[in-house]
Amino acid sequence: MDVLTVKGLTKSFGGLVAVKNVSFSVGKGEILGLIGPNGAGKTTVLNLITGFLKPDAGSIIFKGEDVTGSPPHVLVKKGVARTFQLVNPFSNMSVIDNIAVALYGKRGIRSTEKAVEFLELVGLAHRKEELAKNLPHGDLKKLEIARALATEPELLLLDEPFAGLSLEEASELMELLKKLNEEGLTMVIIEHVMKVVMRLSHRVVVLCNGEKIAEGRPSEVVKDEKVIEAYLGGEVVA
Ligand SMILES: Nc1ncnc2c1ncn2[C@@H]1O[C@H](COP(=O)(O)OP(=O)(O)OP(=O)(O)O)[C@@H](O)[C@H]1O
Ligand SMILES: [Mg+2]
Repeated sequence: MDVLTVKGLTKSFGGLVAVKNVSFSVGKGEILGLIGPNGAGKTTVLNLITGFLKPDAGSIIFKGEDVTGSPPHVLVKKGVARTFQLVNPFSNMSVIDNIAVALYGKRGIRSTEKAVEFLELVGLAHRKEELAKNLPHGDLKKLEIARALATEPELLLLDEPFAGLSLEEASELMELLKKLNEEGLTMVIIEHVMKVVMRLSHRVVVLCNGEKIAEGRPSEVVKDEKVIEAYLGGEVVA
């Protein structure tokens, strides 16, 4: 069974149709890349799937259940977690408390050891006592991922997790995401640098001006005329 299916998703902001009739599925254990130029509607799709926005039309099916319109906290309990394009920690809390909150919120668990495990997973355990607001950008991105993982999701949606990372941090993150996927985690990764998507994704959905313009294996999608045109002048092509 597919972990996620979206059908006919549509969302407007005033007169702007940010997402138009978008449909796709994500299979269990799959990494789906969601790509497209700036303003294509990628984050809006992710906001719709995770309940931060309600669609004007269309449906969202998670593990066979229609969850359209469910709020974020309900979706987290069901196993849907996300990270944000702009990192968003509890700034005045320590790194470890940021994880503790996520653990408690989802599963009612109070366990420092468990929180440290998630920090170790992303390579942040050595900074556990620091205030989140004092972390450099790369570490904030890791914290954001650890927080999402602490809710033990079955589906993790990442909004440009590689943005602003150094080459070394990016390759560490690539390894972490591959490892999590090998352990069975299903993922949707938003990215607009095609190279990253090519290396991680099993399948790619391409958005442009709110519409799905292509879908397929990364190697097929980069050859697609519509995709090349959408990206012309952009920072693509592998
Ligand atoms: N809350 C909002 N109110 C009004 N317009 C919005 C809102 N959120 C997004 N938009 C508009 O909807 C369109 C799609 O935005 P979205 O953030 O989904 O694109 P994106 O593909 O994630 O772009 P980027 O690569 O820059 O992150 C853009 O034109 C954007 O300005
Ligand atoms: Mg975005």
